[in-house]
Amino acid sequence: MSDDLKAFQRLLEGRFSCRGFLDTHVPRDVIREIVQTAQNVPSWCNSQPWQLSICSGETTQTLAEALSKAAAEGLHTPDVPFPDRYVGVYKERRSTCGWQLYDAVGVQKGDRAGSYTQMMRNYAFFGAPHTAIVTTPQCLGAYGAVDCGAFVTAFTLAAQSMGVATIAQAAIAGVAPVVRDILKIEEDRDILCAISFGYEDKTHPANQFRTERAEPEDVIQWC
Ligand SMILES: Cc1cc2nc3c(=O)[nH]c(=O)nc-3n(C[C@H](O)[C@H](O)[C@H](O)COP(=O)(O)O)c2cc1C
Repeated sequence: MSDDLKAFQRLLEGRFSCRGFLDTHVPRDVIREIVQTAQNVPSWCNSQPWQLSICSGETTQTLAEALSKAAAEGLHTPDVPFPDRYVGVYKERRSTCGWQLYDAVGVQKGDRAGSYTQMMRNYAFFGAPHTAIVTTPQCLGAYGAVDCGAFVTAFTLAAQSMGVATIAQAAIAGVAPVVRDILKIEEDRDILCAISFGYEDKTHPANQFRTERAEPEDVIQWC
């Protein structure tokens, strides 16, 4: 196995979605380097359609308070529709990772208050000191979103290589009007997700599990 592959696998296997962070801020030059590294992903026509609104400190706090309030009031108005439902194996995988999280944080089956509290932690960015709101120009449609997805993954891996923990959060896109209003995001851009980031709280219960992956045979159709 080449050294490059070993290093790449180590990064991919070491990354996970962090749901408990320390208060320590990530220096701006480190954030800039993460973005510069992630910029190397391919995009259709090299359009690089992603834009990031990166929040730190007080802005993160203000946003968290406003989003938590909006979500508690039941606001759900994403720019890009959420999946109607998950079926078959996708439903099973969703349920498995959901129960892994609930087990880790001690939410039992039927504990609606406990699961609601855990779900609401999304809107406080799981305590991360920074969040990057990812937007795409509406005019580029689904392929703009595909390019942004590649960027989100590269951001998480570049961050991982620099000791910075991350979590992508589509939940934040559910309260898009409030995000747009506070961060002055243009009307012609769709809010896709957030990437919340900072340094991992290694003692946090939500960080004590790892998700599973399907085998290549489960996703390949040799033609
Ligand atoms: C586009 C995207 C949106 C996500 N949205 C959320 C979210 O809103 N809340 C959350 O807790 N996790 C969210 N996740 C994290 C996934 O649940 C996680 O990536 C998946 O379970 C695999 O686990 P891992 O990242 O720890 O490997 C999101 C991930 C992606 C890529």
